[in-house]
Amino acid sequence: MKTILVTGGAGYIGSHTCVRLLESGYDVIIMDSLANSHSLVMDRLAAITGREPLFVETDLRDTEILNGVFAHIPIDAVIHFCGLKAVGESVARPLDYYEVNVGSTLALCRAMQEHGVRDLVFSSSATVYGAAEEMPIPETAPLGEVTNPYGRTKLMIEQIFSDLHASSPDWNLVMLRYFNPVGAHPCGLIGEDPLDTPNNLFPYITQVAAGRLPELSVYGGDYPTPDGTGVRDYIHVMDLAEGHLRALEHLDAKPGFDVFNLGTGRGCSVLEAVRTFEAVNGVPVPHRITARRPGDVAVCYADAGKARQVLGWEARLGIEDMVRDAWNWQCGNPNGYRGVMVPMDWRK
Ligand code: NAD
Ligand code: WQD
Repeated sequence: MKTILVTGGAGYIGSHTCVRLLESGYDVIIMDSLANSHSLVMDRLAAITGREPLFVETDLRDTEILNGVFAHIPIDAVIHFCGLKAVGESVARPLDYYEVNVGSTLALCRAMQEHGVRDLVFSSSATVYGAAEEMPIPETAPLGEVTNPYGRTKLMIEQIFSDLHASSPDWNLVMLRYFNPVGAHPCGLIGEDPLDTPNNLFPYITQVAAGRLPELSVYGGDYPTPDGTGVRDYIHVMDLAEGHLRALEHLDAKPGFDVFNLGTGRGCSVLEAVRTFEAVNGVPVPHRITARRPGDVAVCYADAGKARQVLGWEARLGIEDMVRDAWNWQCGNPNGYRGVMVPMDWRK
């Protein structure tokens, strides 16, 4: 079985992907600085899968450690999750975002080049489409109208990989453009664990429902959408994880450079997400419509046809599964990985 290096594998999407990799028999090496994650994830991965990843705690830009890993372990492919991801923070700290996201990618590419590893899957984002005019958004939609440094790092990195493939066609590179990943593993042992007050809708909803935050501000009630609130393509993180396994298989089946949207292809409004959360979990989510958030688009959802046709992948889980699993994770881990785990039968 293959050995996969997972950069950022202790993080939200990385940890869920590691579960599916370990369960599928892959050997997994995680390299993560824990800048936005916790080492407890390793225990949780072992508890869920009965197998342990090899964990190297390091900044990916530490080239000595990076080259040491490639020199000592025969790596077949890399899934590159590591990076900083907060849009607002990227506006305030652009240099950090360019340094970490672009810098870690360049360090990784150099090490892969030196050690003859040519297969990689990259975490890109629907943010590269900016304010797309076409809905649903196909992979062929124009790129470039991105309004923040975070998004620009994703565009730059995709470009770096494209140039790399043009210069050396033996590189096999898949860019996965995620829409809005939410939810958690259904067992409630791993999930999204924001260090500060969440920026994203789902962790905000769960923290309001748990009483950690007083109410949800619904950013804008006057968008040209059926209920006036913003529409997004929320995708369950377990479906997303599965997409990475299909992408790894695609590297073997059809080598080259390719790009795929990972979304459900279905739009869901903020109010729909809130109401589904309340109905499925039986918990109120106090909320109030406020002003629009600067930089938000009204509607964003994927054309998921290419991933279905070429990767044989499609999202199986719906918004009910997403709100149920997000709440299950929140209830079991009220303070994320930094607090006490509440066993299932102790919950109210
Ligand atoms: P995350 O912050 O939970 O995971 C990223 C991981 O990278 C963290 O564990 C962090 O500690 C690690 N990391 C950061 N800088 C590092 C460095 N210099 N060296 C080593 N490790 C480092 O984020 P996530 O939500 O799991 O996102 C994973 C990837 O997917 C990111 O590249 C993100 O941009 C991309 N993405 C995320 C979303 C989303 O909404 N979550 C959407 C689209 C794309
Ligand atoms: C979703 C909807 C908000 C919070 C971001 C990044 C994107 C990608 C995914 C990385 C919008 C509304 C939110 C709140 C609200 N990440 N909302 N109240 O903005 O679609 O995408 O995460 O690549 O690049 O931009 O996700 O979860 O922040 O917002 O009403 O407290 O929820 O206005 O309509 P977004 P989000």
